[in-house]
Amino acid sequence: MKVRKAVIPAAGLGTRMLPATKTVPKEMLPMVDKPVIQYIIEEAVAAGIEDILIVTNRAKSAMDDYFDYYPELETRLVQAGKDHELTEVRRAADLANIFYVRQKETKGLGHAIWRAKRFVGDEPFAVLLGDDVMRSKEPVVGQLIQAAEKYDASAVGVQQVSLEAISKYCSLKVEPLEDRVFLATDMVEKPRPEQVFSNYAILGRYVLKSGIFDILEHLEPGFGGEIQLTDGLRRLCQKEKMVAVDFEGRRYDTGNLRGFMEASIDFALDHPETGTWLRQFIKDKAGQL
Ligand code: UTP
Repeated sequence: MKVRKAVIPAAGLGTRMLPATKTVPKEMLPMVDKPVIQYIIEEAVAAGIEDILIVTNRAKSAMDDYFDYYPELETRLVQAGKDHELTEVRRAADLANIFYVRQKETKGLGHAIWRAKRFVGDEPFAVLLGDDVMRSKEPVVGQLIQAAEKYDASAVGVQQVSLEAISKYCSLKVEPLEDRVFLATDMVEKPRPEQVFSNYAILGRYVLKSGIFDILEHLEPGFGGEIQLTDGLRRLCQKEKMVAVDFEGRRYDTGNLRGFMEASIDFALDHPETGTWLRQFIKDKAGQL
């Protein structure tokens, strides 16, 4: 089994980041010098993915524009001798083969992924949520792909969260297979305390076999009246093998203000142009607080 394709669902309404996201897609918010979605595409490319489908909606055409060429701008950069800017603008457009499909109604994450059926065909594919950014040595989705290929299985990315926090996530029932890899046999979305299987929560990265599409197609709306990916994954792990990978790296939910700011600060500290300056700025600020 070889994973060559990825799907990035990015058709959510972004209501947690309003008013900024009223006209700017949350995936296009700048984090240091790049939009959020570029970090996610770079992660997929670093893991060997060649073809990427972004699930968008009518308010998100800024994403297609961003990954396109812009000849007028590029000519101006050439004339001005702005080589670095030119390279970066072109690099974004040439990162991968990027395709788009619209989710015509905002019917939930499971429905958004189902829109990828024609693009994916019968192949296994990776899913990277459009607002979950990872900071890691090895691309997180690559860690999942390795396990999925080794076990010829679907894979979900997990980490342990506190028992208080698990009620916001999907709690997984797991059996150990090897260091950092488990068999996933059941799951529950946003569990009440008595429903918790474990404090392993699914966090934004998946490798799925194409059997998920038949399941999603026949799912009834679940929590919030939406077609929930978790309901589909639950059925998938009961029908076919699914592993859970306790991935190495830090995940940021950039779809909420705190997660966005934490990611912005950590990536700015890593960045060659801003790292030294920001470290000093934070130290000076801390002294004044
Ligand atoms: P979220 O729940 O984090 O995104 O969905 P949202 O719906 O934009 O969030 P808020 O609560 O209104 O702020 C997780 C992922 O699923 C996508 C989102 O774009 C995000 O990447 N999604 C969600 C869709 O593509 N379509 C949907 O109908 C719902």
